[in-house]
Amino acid sequence: MYRVWVTGGAGFIGSHLVRLLVRERPEWPIHTLDALTYAGNLANLAEVWEAPNHHFHRVDVADLPAVEALWEAHPPSLIFHLAAESHVDRSILSPLDFFHTNVGGTVTLLELARQRWQGRQDVLFFQVSTDEVYGSLPEGGFFTEGSPYDPRSPYSASKAAADHFVRAYGHTYGLPFVISNCGNNYGPYQFPEKLIPLTIVHLIERRPIPVYGRGQNVRDWIHVEDHVRALLMIAEKGRRGHTYLVGARNPRTNLEVVSLLCQLYDELTGQQDSQRLITFVQDRPGHDLRYAIEPSPHLADIGWQPQVSFEEGLRRTLQWYLAHPEWWQSVRSGQYQTYYERWYGERLKQPPAS
Ligand code: NAD
Ligand code: DAU
Repeated sequence: MYRVWVTGGAGFIGSHLVRLLVRERPEWPIHTLDALTYAGNLANLAEVWEAPNHHFHRVDVADLPAVEALWEAHPPSLIFHLAAESHVDRSILSPLDFFHTNVGGTVTLLELARQRWQGRQDVLFFQVSTDEVYGSLPEGGFFTEGSPYDPRSPYSASKAAADHFVRAYGHTYGLPFVISNCGNNYGPYQFPEKLIPLTIVHLIERRPIPVYGRGQNVRDWIHVEDHVRALLMIAEKGRRGHTYLVGARNPRTNLEVVSLLCQLYDELTGQQDSQRLITFVQDRPGHDLRYAIEPSPHLADIGWQPQVSFEEGLRRTLQWYLAHPEWWQSVRSGQYQTYYERWYGERLKQPPAS
């Protein structure tokens, strides 16, 4: 039995993980730690709010005294560390926020774990990371567990720094850890600044769908429920000190993804002309061209494989956003409007440089 902390548990992936843990491991106490930034939302935890094994704490993971006080009250034996600033475009506008949470927050948790766990082997620090730490691939290439780190955006640099700190604490202090590096997640509860939910809400509102450059960048997509099942299986059966590349062998160009969404949306709603909303806009600076994952062979050994096909996952995601306008309308209010105007205001007025 573990006493679990999920940092960032009110965000997109974190809330799916919390729901899975509360449902599948009712004997484990589950504590969600979240600062509730623009990306964190208590509505994401509504399903587990009354569950006797779930507890929520609003805290900044980079605030050492506050996290220390929580450790005194509810010492964990397993930390799933997901709290992060997660959006690449925002990291281009405000890198310091990414340094604060992604680097500072991780080292704060590691420090407490080092001091409090001292030599214990029945504990685990689980660093939830990204394939973006490996940089950009040439046509036809794949990331493997042995790929060298080559982060190229402020976001991926901050995640890479955090991963290095985790390995350094493992090597220097013997801290039991695992790291997972996953590709692009999609599914319900994703903040509508990321490509798939942004496209869906623009389809619903019949607004231009911004595609950077010519839409030829490739991302490797996985349904969030497949990802969080992998996290639980790795925590329970994975090798300590190991890195797991989690992916569903589903690399697609952005234009393919957006076109498929338009097609599925038209099938579901009877609309006929969604493709015309696709609008090529000025590219993201430093935009990585291609990510594609060769999943860790050991994932199959521990019994994990993806279960949700891309088309079925997209259809279910579209249906969820169509059924929950109150969710995406409320999370988009307030600070998001300022960000949207800053990032897309000029982009949607100007044609892209060819
Ligand atoms: P998200 O932006 O939806 O959620 C992040 C959560 O962290 C929010 O609830 C936010 O309130 C919280 N948070 C931010 N700063 C905090 C702080 N200082 N203290 C406490 N809480 C804080 O992100 P997500 O997409 O769910 O990603 C979760 C994790 O998974 C991140 O570490 C991300 O790097 C990693 N990851 C994401 C993807 C993806 O495709 N979304 C893929 C691979 C890895
Ligand atoms: O690869 C894993 C990473 O995937 C995670 O670590 C990050 O937290 C997550 O945000 C995601 O990063 P991306 O930058 O790949 O995701 P995003 O949804 O922002 O963009 C996906 C692709 O779509 C990317 O090539 C940029 C492009 N894009 C994005 C937006 C928001 C557009 O063309 N137009 C857009 O408006």
